[in-house]
Amino acid sequence: MIVDFGDNLKHGRTVYMQHCMHCHGVTGDGNGPTAEYLNPLPRDYRQGWFKFASTGQNDPPNTGDLDRIIRRGIPGTYMPSFALLKEDEVANTVEYVRWLSMRGNLELSLAGRMSREYSEASVQDEIDTALNRHQQAVEKWNEGGQKGEEPVLEKTATKVRKDRLADLKDDLEKIPGYVDRYADQIATNWKQAQQLSHAIYPKEPRTPDTAASRSRGRLLYLRNNCHNCHGVTGEGNGPRTREFDKDPVTNEPYPTPGLYNKWGHPIEPRNLTVGMYRGGRRPLDLYRRIHEGMPGTPMPPYGKLEDQQIWDIVNYVMSLPYNDPMAGTPKESEEASEDEVAARQDQHEQLVAETADE
Ligand code: HEC
Ligand code: HEC
Repeated sequence: MIVDFGDNLKHGRTVYMQHCMHCHGVTGDGNGPTAEYLNPLPRDYRQGWFKFASTGQNDPPNTGDLDRIIRRGIPGTYMPSFALLKEDEVANTVEYVRWLSMRGNLELSLAGRMSREYSEASVQDEIDTALNRHQQAVEKWNEGGQKGEEPVLEKTATKVRKDRLADLKDDLEKIPGYVDRYADQIATNWKQAQQLSHAIYPKEPRTPDTAASRSRGRLLYLRNNCHNCHGVTGEGNGPRTREFDKDPVTNEPYPTPGLYNKWGHPIEPRNLTVGMYRGGRRPLDLYRRIHEGMPGTPMPPYGKLEDQQIWDIVNYVMSLPYNDPMAGTPKESEEASEDEVAARQDQHEQLVAETADE
């Protein structure tokens, strides 16, 4: 059984309603009564995007991940630690969060299917395509000296709408089938995520944290464009925080500069000089964040790198709170002036050039 539907789930719901609902919402959409005042916002569980899981980027979290998040909270955010909850309270809340996430995912999948097939935009698309095809056929017919029958528009707007309505009627009857299929798929994903083979573990042990490793890490940090977001000095102020990100749905730039998460909210790259890691501060936690990225956020996965390279980056990143990588140069203030930014850029280009042949 994927979720235990008995008393445990009921108990989990009671704990959830008491401790979690006011932030994460009754349905787990992350929109509880206190949510709007928080940054970052409480997690919306419905898409199945969890930032701090030990599983792969396309997997749901496993129960151990959720247990850990609930007990430890997420440092640097409003997600509190619930260390005082009893063993069974945590375990049952974990089940309830899994249930909310699966159910929300099912609803979104169904709604997504329906709006893909039957939204006004998709109907209009079909009408426009039919019109375009017809126009092209008529042009060809004219160019060819109007030989044969004049092409007729068979797929008129009225016909397209009528056909879609008929399809919708058929489709509504099939909904129970879709529900079963989507539900099976979602349940299988959550079940598989429980298997050890889905947890991300490095194949190579951590490279000893030496000056040489950190310096290789620094180079990899620059070569892999971490600095575009996190900044040359790791302070979270790279050029991407001043550029206009595009809304992936409309393809229009967002009104304010900076990065956005998949929920359409502004998000800042972490200031790596502070040493506060939301997903845990063990080297393994950082390895996983870098290897798999952080789902739902712009932090990309770097699984294509060799383990040794990721460990070098981890060693470098973990040294940042203690060592200024640009020792001797003035620190960039929160609101860096254009000149300072330009100077930093130059400095960076030089650094990359100098180290490029190593
Ligand atoms: C005061 C508000 C608040 C309360 C209460 C709260 N949370 Fe959260 N929770 C958050 C915020 C904010 C985040 C997102 C942090 C982030 O994105 O870095 C979050 C994130 C999470 C995540 C996502 C972890 C991941 O890997 O992405 C889970 C799971 C979670 N909370 C479960 C719970 C549960 C279960 C409870 C109740 C026992 C609870 N939360 C209570 C604010 C809250
Ligand atoms: C496109 C922008 C972008 C790039 C490129 C990027 N990051 Fe990030 N990174 C982010 C954002 C945004 C966050 C914050 C995510 C959040 O808290 O929800 C983040 C968070 C992190 C964290 C914090 C993890 C934690 O548990 O709190 C670390 C460490 C990190 N990034 C390291 C790196 C490294 C190393 C690289 C390059 C190999 C890199 N990032 C590349 C945007 C980026």
